[in-house]
Amino acid sequence: MTDPLDLCGLRLAHPVINGSGTFDAIAARRAFGDALLERFPFSAFVSKTITPEPRAGNPPPRLWETPAGMINSIGLPNKGLQGFLEQDLPQLGRLPVPLIVSVMATSAEGFARLVGKVAARPPVAAIELNVSCPNVHSGLIVGEEPRETASLLEALRPLTDKPLIVKLTPNVAEPAGVAVAAEEGGANAVSLINTLKASAIDPGTLRPWLGAGRGGLSGPAVRAVALEQVRSVAAAVAVPVIGMGGITSGSEALEFLAAGASVVAVGTESFRDPGAGERVRSELAEELAARRISSLAEVVGASAAADQRGRNEVQTGASSGPSEG
Ligand SMILES: Cc1cc2nc3c(=O)[nH]c(=O)nc-3n(C[C@H](O)[C@H](O)[C@H](O)COP(=O)(O)O)c2cc1C
Repeated sequence: MTDPLDLCGLRLAHPVINGSGTFDAIAARRAFGDALLERFPFSAFVSKTITPEPRAGNPPPRLWETPAGMINSIGLPNKGLQGFLEQDLPQLGRLPVPLIVSVMATSAEGFARLVGKVAARPPVAAIELNVSCPNVHSGLIVGEEPRETASLLEALRPLTDKPLIVKLTPNVAEPAGVAVAAEEGGANAVSLINTLKASAIDPGTLRPWLGAGRGGLSGPAVRAVALEQVRSVAAAVAVPVIGMGGITSGSEALEFLAAGASVVAVGTESFRDPGAGERVRSELAEELAARRISSLAEVVGASAAADQRGRNEVQTGASSGPSEG
């Protein structure tokens, strides 16, 4: 594999982490015991998103399988801040990799409470801000509005020196605008994509299948969208990008690195293959070795450089035409 890498101050042994909410490290530890700690599949662990108060999540059904993907409307069930700090954090703190805690609230005050309390705990290496949520004061989804994202970061940045990672939503026309707002507000990295808004209709009753009415699409079905969003965001910001969305193999992970991601995350694939994290890591190592690549810097953003060459050619008339059908 390549040398260890630095993700905004976190030292990672390799570039494969998990997507929030898709790998339950506490349940895996119960199932596999210390073997999980000896061979932990990810180079950092991202917790499921926690909220200030406990949440029961959405009514069932919560899952629908689509061609090459799934729609979930889990609805962030969690123990709330206090339950997380007392019950989960002591266990997650024993993992052999940096711990990133994902948080979400419906107001800047709620986010501030989460960030203040979570960041103060030594095992926490970084905080991921899940901004796919409405601000109760404005009614706007924070991560869909650059101004909302910027003002949230302004409120949170002074609260901790630990890295803040903004998890971007794909449900916007221009994710790069939100990413730039996050960077200007002091975010140390951005991660993308979260799930795409999606619906399923019960073919029998012709009513919405999911108890919550709608949910979020993930898995290979979203990969091409994710790749394009990673490319456009990576071209717009200087902070590191954590890329995810439908990654199932090492060669797909490599595509995300070429698109500009410094680190990749495996999500839905872990439900299909619980060993996916370790498999993607080793396949990626083989891909890099076969290409005689020893430093990730040789790959990250390789497609962006090609893109720039393409643009120069268009300007000089070497090629022309729209980029889509
Ligand atoms: C069942 C499920 C639960 C998820 N829970 C969370 C969550 O709690 N917080 C979050 O930021 N993203 C959550 N996600 C989104 C994933 O972390 C990831 O961004 C998304 O699924 C795209 O990657 P993938 O296609 O590899 O799954 C969840 C996704 C799934 C499928």
